[in-house]
Amino acid sequence: MIIMSVESSCDETAVAITRDGREVLADEIYSQIDIHTLYGGVVPELASRCHISVISRLAESALKAAEISRSDIDAVAVTCAPGLIGAVLVGVNFAKSAALALGVPLIPVHHIRGHIAANYIAHPELEPPFTALVISGGNTLIAEVKDYTELHILGSTRDDAAGECFDKTARVLGLGYPGGSKIDALAKGGDALKYHLPVAKLDNPYDMSFSGLKTAMINLVHNAEQVGAELDKPSLAASLCKAISDSIVPRAVEAAKSLGHTKLAVAGGVAANSFIRGELERAAAEAGLKLYLAPLKLCGDNGAMIGCQGYYEYLAGKRAGTDLNAWATMPADSLLF
Ligand code: KG4
Repeated sequence: MIIMSVESSCDETAVAITRDGREVLADEIYSQIDIHTLYGGVVPELASRCHISVISRLAESALKAAEISRSDIDAVAVTCAPGLIGAVLVGVNFAKSAALALGVPLIPVHHIRGHIAANYIAHPELEPPFTALVISGGNTLIAEVKDYTELHILGSTRDDAAGECFDKTARVLGLGYPGGSKIDALAKGGDALKYHLPVAKLDNPYDMSFSGLKTAMINLVHNAEQVGAELDKPSLAASLCKAISDSIVPRAVEAAKSLGHTKLAVAGGVAANSFIRGELERAAAEAGLKLYLAPLKLCGDNGAMIGCQGYYEYLAGKRAGTDLNAWATMPADSLLF
């Protein structure tokens, strides 16, 4: 089954062609980094306008790269939640029109489920059940993946996502946007034990919180500026990576152990962080868990992951009509999906 999939929930416009959920025939991505860099973060209206400009061209180039014609497409899958609402609406509208014009089914896909599915592409042997840790720019959660389309969320951030904490710290340090990869690179020359940063503890052992850490980073930088103190930026970046890692890695490993799972899959843009990847490898090995990490190109937003999850949603009977809407927020285990 060949699926054309569309992703436009934030600042990447993506159209992919996948076969039977696991094989990627084309994965076209247009990154809007250059547009938003000027503002130090994503400007929602500019993101929506850019999606509109490039989406049709991306679909054409995906067909060309996959060496298929329009009549080969069996279904169209699209991210319809969560994300910047104007941005998601562009993808949803495009996918609706494509499905209508081609006379094929339309499959609604939850963005977070798509992130988890990136691991099915990277690891053909991976099958549910397993524990998933999703760490991205807008979401941070730990879920029990019971089946391809059945999730149970054990815990999530109560406020900011881990990626938001990386991005805002990078901004206040003058590193620019997107900040996560820049903090990652800067941290390489730093001492992760130099700065003691807060790691929140909450009633639910699997819930997390990053807003206090974000505020602590901003205050630390501003206070140093006010008194003219020199900051050891590489060590500050390394200490931030450690604080975020200390918040998520033990919780994810503990969740997998408590569920009796032997597999832990990690997904989302922040999963590209080298310190966190190292800590996950160490902690998973210590706990006897098999760790599944997606390659860097599948960690961030992409269309292939939506096509992969779309295939399993299709098999589970999920379909959308021409009245499909978009949602800025929606839990990954919502009954709508
Ligand atoms: O998954 P993603 O592409 O978008 C969402 O679905 O949110 O994640 C983007 C986030 C951004 O916050 C970005 O700074 C972060 O992933 N990120 C990283 C790294 N690469 C991307 N964070 C830490 N270390 C990295 N190497």
